[in-house]
Amino acid sequence: MDRITIRNLQKMKVEGEKIAALTAYDYYMAKFVEEAGIEVILVGDSLNMVVYGEPSTLSCTMTKMLAHTKAVSSSALRALVVGDMPFLSYQPSIREAIYNAGLFLSEGGAQAVKLEGGLEFVPTVGKIIESGIPVMGHLGMLPQSVHKYGGYLVRGKTDREQEYLLESALALQEAGCFAIVLEKVPAKLGKKLTESLAIPTIGIGAGPYCDGQILVLNDMLGLYDKFCPKFVRPYANLKKLILKAVKHYRNDVKSGDYPSSEESF
Ligand code: KIV
Repeated sequence: MDRITIRNLQKMKVEGEKIAALTAYDYYMAKFVEEAGIEVILVGDSLNMVVYGEPSTLSCTMTKMLAHTKAVSSSALRALVVGDMPFLSYQPSIREAIYNAGLFLSEGGAQAVKLEGGLEFVPTVGKIIESGIPVMGHLGMLPQSVHKYGGYLVRGKTDREQEYLLESALALQEAGCFAIVLEKVPAKLGKKLTESLAIPTIGIGAGPYCDGQILVLNDMLGLYDKFCPKFVRPYANLKKLILKAVKHYRNDVKSGDYPSSEESF
């Protein structure tokens, strides 16, 4: 089974085939996601919230990210696995950024990394790519900057922000990014950025015109019940199914119905 590469993603953009991406954080979920034909699996730092129950992504660490990336890489043999660089793994210096990005490949088994930020991170992105590590950019609403903006707000509503995002997207492309995630920006801006770039855009709350879409797996499966962003389509309600199954088991244990003689030795 041939691995999807960044060249395949580029070809998909040129040929107008949409890219389907999802997050995954462990061996079995990644296995199922890949079996369903998803081309890009992002081991997102969103795992800090949806797996560890933390209130934001800010306390996510390289240790957590590498452990989950390794688990995902062990089962994902076809999808392109992208490791998400956590807060403080690339901001302090270019040297730390290159080293930590490299760990996603050498220890995590990923094929690429993603990091949040525009113009101000272009030199860092360029150096990571020069080191042989493919980088996916991330613009728009940046969860690691939640306190800078005072919430998880839609970005790119003003002319000034739109100019900044366009300039950033072009600079990230020039630096060598193979794709850019656009998070929570108006659909019209998602379209403009997608049309302005030769590399694919992967939208999350960025409207239908992006070259691909990504969602947090636990959100679209109904496994995260703290809040559900407007852009999430609930494809399943696994919380409901899990509750039903676990209650059923509990009742069977209490009533003595489980285990039966067939389930005993
Ligand atoms: O961490 C994450 O899951 C992400 C996606 C929302 C793009 O960055």
